[in-house]
Amino acid sequence: MSTLLVTTTSLAALIIYVLVHTLYIRKGLHKTPQFVRGNYPILGAVGFWTRRWDFFKEARSFSKSGNFSFHAGSNLLVCVTGEKGRRVFYDSRELRLEEGYSVLFGQIPDTKLNDDADLREDARSTHQRFMRHLQHFIKIDYIRSRFPLMRAEVRAGMEAIKNDPRGVTDPFDSIYRLIFMLLIHLAGGDEMAKDHNIADEILYYFAMLDESAGATTVMFPRTPSWPFLKRTYAGFRLYTVVDNIVKQRSKQRLDDPIQYLLDEGERSYKIVEFLIGILFAGLLNSGINAAYTMCCLASSPEWLAKARQEVRLVAGKYAKDPNGPLYRQLDDVPFNAFETDFPAVGACLKDSIRLNQMMAQFRRNCSRHAIKLGNGEVIPPGAFATYHVGDAHMDPDIYPEPEKWDPSRWSPGVEQDKKGYAFVGWGCGKHPCMGMRFAKLEQNLITAYFLAYFDFHLEDEHGSKLAEPPEIDYNQHGPGRPKTKHFLKVTPLEK
Ligand code: HEM
Repeated sequence: MSTLLVTTTSLAALIIYVLVHTLYIRKGLHKTPQFVRGNYPILGAVGFWTRRWDFFKEARSFSKSGNFSFHAGSNLLVCVTGEKGRRVFYDSRELRLEEGYSVLFGQIPDTKLNDDADLREDARSTHQRFMRHLQHFIKIDYIRSRFPLMRAEVRAGMEAIKNDPRGVTDPFDSIYRLIFMLLIHLAGGDEMAKDHNIADEILYYFAMLDESAGATTVMFPRTPSWPFLKRTYAGFRLYTVVDNIVKQRSKQRLDDPIQYLLDEGERSYKIVEFLIGILFAGLLNSGINAAYTMCCLASSPEWLAKARQEVRLVAGKYAKDPNGPLYRQLDDVPFNAFETDFPAVGACLKDSIRLNQMMAQFRRNCSRHAIKLGNGEVIPPGAFATYHVGDAHMDPDIYPEPEKWDPSRWSPGVEQDKKGYAFVGWGCGKHPCMGMRFAKLEQNLITAYFLAYFDFHLEDEHGSKLAEPPEIDYNQHGPGRPKTKHFLKVTPLEK
């Protein structure tokens, strides 16, 4: 009898706690925007994890102001929308990027565990350290000094595609890998660039880290779930790769980014942290967009012709032998011209970014006061703010036929990003992309050489010609590989 009483009382207490927590404590004292339907106790809004873009669209249309609130585990999120929302999200000093992503992305493993150092750093100081090093690597004179290595890497990549007896390449592998190698030249180690096994190992464990991110690692960051174990293992393997390189450096100095980090006093685990940060910031975005741009060019005779004409024009301006093969002519094009002389190629990339950058961005209100949204609603202190890029990039009032890849949107005179923060694909306000200049350079370099080496069209895995670029899954959490395989059938150009 007494067991029954205890069980019943405990159950009743649990139900009361869940009700009070859900209705009052979780909703907070502040005037947060309307809560979404299906914001469950403990888990929060499941749609945020399972079908992100659809979830945002539905929640936005149900909310009177367009803004809405929900939970991810115990974290309160306020989603802002529209131009006003964008202004607050991107311009507010109190909203911190690093604190937002460090909790809501859930990918970065604790590499400190592999080191005996007793350092405790919060997300802010880790971010500041990361940015300080990155500032060094994105100085234009530094990039210029690495440019010959980068060009040689791209040439080697093109030769590998040309010599592949299948005559086809999957750009989401080959072009993506090239982007990875260029990042390694920018901010990795010479050993990684020279030894393909090391490069492959890093790519493999980075992919494992990326896959492990999701609901479980955000809601239960320390629980030994399968994704948590994968993330920890990948972090450990990356640490081992870097630590082996670092140990060799006690015998031999090299003139490369790792040496710079070591001279700055960094230990192995900090170098791994930096490397992982660079890969998350620069590989997925650049790699997927470069590959997707190539697929779009393959399925647009108009833009393929425009872009190749641009390459011929620039190459012709600098070539020592104007009768040589186009790719040889490109070898004479200087660094500066690769930065500035490819506007058509740039427009192709920009519209790819508009379509592929369909992700939620995050911030956290780290101040002690609520941040006003201008309509009586607020982002409470400690809460997270989120903005879904699709709110701007898929707005038909800004971009007619928003799902269509159309670089003419970015032609001089018709630029569609003039209205308040309508293009946020490179970030804006307080946090514009730090790697933008480098990313544009690598894109121009790869696209120009690809166009100079090959004629190409799209095929499926059975060799049937395809007329459309791969479908983008807008519900993904960031730029990702398409679900169906697309190949570029390449024919080397004679001239
Ligand atoms: C096509 C390629 C790229 C795209 C589309 C892109 C896009 C973006 C976007 C949208 C943001 C702002 C995120 C936000 O506001 O929440 C951002 C920030 C950032 N990006 Fe990029 N990115 C690219 C390549 C790179 C590369 C290659 C690097 C590094 C070499 C890089 C480093 C960064 C960093 C460090 C930040 C954070 C800036 C801050 O905290 O203030 N990005 N990027």
